[in-house]
Amino acid sequence: MRISVIGAGYVGLVTGACLAELGHHVLCTDNDKSKIDTLDRGKLPIFEPGLDRVVEKNRKQGRLSFSADPARAATEGEAIFICVGTPPLPTGDADLSSIDRVAQMIATEAKSDKLVVEKSTVPAQTGQQLKRVLEIYGRGSGARFRVASNPEFLREGTAVSDFLHPDRIVIGVSDEVAEKQLHEIYRPVLEQKFHCPVHDGACPPSPPPAWLVTTINSAELIKHASNSFLALKISYANMVADLAEKLGANIEEVMHGVGLDPRIGAHFFRPGLGFGGFCLPKDLQAFVRLAERNGVDFAMLREAERINHQRIAGFVEKLRHSLWVLKGKQIAMLGLAFKANTDDIRFAPSIELIKRLQAEGVRLSAYDPQAMEKIREQFPDLNCATDAYEAARGADALLIVTEWEEFRKLDWARIHKDMARPLVMDGRNLLSAEAMKALGFEYHSIGRPDLPVRGETKVLA
Ligand code: UDX
Repeated sequence: MRISVIGAGYVGLVTGACLAELGHHVLCTDNDKSKIDTLDRGKLPIFEPGLDRVVEKNRKQGRLSFSADPARAATEGEAIFICVGTPPLPTGDADLSSIDRVAQMIATEAKSDKLVVEKSTVPAQTGQQLKRVLEIYGRGSGARFRVASNPEFLREGTAVSDFLHPDRIVIGVSDEVAEKQLHEIYRPVLEQKFHCPVHDGACPPSPPPAWLVTTINSAELIKHASNSFLALKISYANMVADLAEKLGANIEEVMHGVGLDPRIGAHFFRPGLGFGGFCLPKDLQAFVRLAERNGVDFAMLREAERINHQRIAGFVEKLRHSLWVLKGKQIAMLGLAFKANTDDIRFAPSIELIKRLQAEGVRLSAYDPQAMEKIREQFPDLNCATDAYEAARGADALLIVTEWEEFRKLDWARIHKDMARPLVMDGRNLLSAEAMKALGFEYHSIGRPDLPVRGETKVLA
């Protein structure tokens, strides 16, 4: 099928490249010309493992092309995937102005019937508004518009395999034709008859995804409810971690034990500096605002938000407890991306942490394997190190802010020698307390007693 994707960001680029990988002819557009120029130079405007291979392969085979002229997206695709950003407004509501602008453009440019698919994360009932805009601005064009919701469940860092091997495909439609078209678009994924190009060689065969067909409102609500529950789980783990720390319990063993109940599950129970990224924080806010605007009490999720915000302040107080005076201290910050395997710093814990530490008069030296370019744009005066060792040299404390595997494998004995004071604050429980103490570090982490922890959790017979 001829498909257009509007928006070449973390969602649009993955969606466009993977739909081409499935055999469709995809035109991916973005009104940010620099993104398209980067893509036309054979580079990616974002770091996403394996995406470069998928883009390159499908461009070479003529199934994927890019344009800075969004109007072409409206005329060339039978199906048009809207993948534009819906960032939070100051009120916390989702900013839907890009959706509105794109809908008007589609309505006025389309010359034939279109399936318009909202993949951007939007509050429930957006699809109804989208349909109205298409009808009102499309009057006289003769084109008819079918609207569907097809929320994305991509995680940055694993987005390509998440797209090609999803555990579920959710579509919200109001007519059979749209359902059939989407079934046709996703048929190769439903049949799992291809190899995901991200893994070298054959990738493990996955079970076919669940295919959930529902109404547009319900599909939109599934997305917000899913992400908000993930956020709730993380805040629950962080709340229990604060108590574990007071009681000398080990949060990892506690949450491992809790997660052994299949009704609960062990995923997303890692305590640390809280959730960041361009999804969980903003989706949680938008969901709360949607509920409050409809007179429903979402205090539970407001509490999850409060616990999450508190993580950074708590981490700074923990650092102050060890350092006593922060002002004038040299501090190394390892990790800036909101999580490992991405260069994305949007709503990353590191942003708030840098602001707080700079306000305290700390001299920072920061390093991240992928996010240096993006952090420099936001903090031009931040002292950026070229690697972790340079960041650590002469530091009075070293903070682990993102759980990059690279940091686990550092030569910590060398870092111990190079630091002015061997103090490590592990915000992601990345390292072993025992190993760090054996190397002579003052080592603090989240929800784990500072004593050497027991070995593996023994499952009692
Ligand atoms: C999330 C959802 O997982 C995905 O399904 C949705 O489509 C988009 O939003 P993403 O934002 O890419 O994906 O990252 P995710 O892996 O969910 O992590 C979000 C944040 O939570 C990160 O800052 C991560 O460090 C943090 N996190 C995650 C925890 O603090 N503890 C955990 O146990 C898991």
